[in-house]
Amino acid sequence: MNRTVWLKIWVWVLGLSMLLLSGPAVAGHGEKREVKKAILLAAFGSSVPEARKALESIEERARKEFPGTEVRWAYTSSMIRAKLAKEGKIFDSPEVALARLMNENYTHVAVLSLHTIPGEEFHSLYRNVHLFGQMDGGFDQVLVARPLLSSRDDMVRAARALLKHLPADRKPGDAVLLMGHGSEKHPADALYLAMNQVFQEMDPHAYLCTVEGYPTLEDVLPKLKEGKIQKVYLVPFMAVAGDHALNDMAGNEPDSWKSVLAKNGVHSEPILKGTIENPEIVDIWMDHLKAAFGHFEKP
Ligand code: CO
Repeated sequence: MNRTVWLKIWVWVLGLSMLLLSGPAVAGHGEKREVKKAILLAAFGSSVPEARKALESIEERARKEFPGTEVRWAYTSSMIRAKLAKEGKIFDSPEVALARLMNENYTHVAVLSLHTIPGEEFHSLYRNVHLFGQMDGGFDQVLVARPLLSSRDDMVRAARALLKHLPADRKPGDAVLLMGHGSEKHPADALYLAMNQVFQEMDPHAYLCTVEGYPTLEDVLPKLKEGKIQKVYLVPFMAVAGDHALNDMAGNEPDSWKSVLAKNGVHSEPILKGTIENPEIVDIWMDHLKAAFGHFEKP
């Protein structure tokens, strides 16, 4: 073998041993540092002030359930962050928030995805958080807690929680239409179809439709006609009652759900509360956060 081949082998062996030695950033350097835990609440975000107020309720719950743990916010939507920045309201992206926590020597971070499904937003969050976990000298552990719908149990609990908080004066013939966001591009969109099934099994007059995925309002209209439904409650199946709920669901534009239903002879009553305002739904998110904390190694 000539010298270049040997050199190449040595470089390769050296590279491999470096990789094996690096391991967990802190353990590798033998430094002992104080354990500092943080929760990063990651929501899509909203430009609607009432919706942001609603978001604060889950922050309170997190502080109560995890006393002594730092709780911070990140908005995953760059569009929302840019809009708020123009009003002088600065919200961090998950990446900026994680960089700050890293800089402040936090050792364990659980990022809670306040998304409804493990869709596009969740996956880009997951990818980037995972990359933070690989940085040398950074966190001991950084994990992503699951979004709202992560198991059949979550789906059943979420449906039950939403049906439980409907107005008490709902009559047996009144239907409920839940508005999910939906995704044209992500396979997790199928969870909305599954969720519709869960609602249907609990309450034959409860349907879930989406704005950007499947099923849509058009898919449900014939069923409302068939059931001779005259009144529906419109309920957001999104963390907050933001732009979609206020405009696409309950707005006065001709293509809003309220208007389309009216054209079909159905009266609607919008309930402008996001899922984050439902305590039993927040329980599900808190359980996901607890599961993430359970994965932290004991110091
Ligand atoms: Co949208």
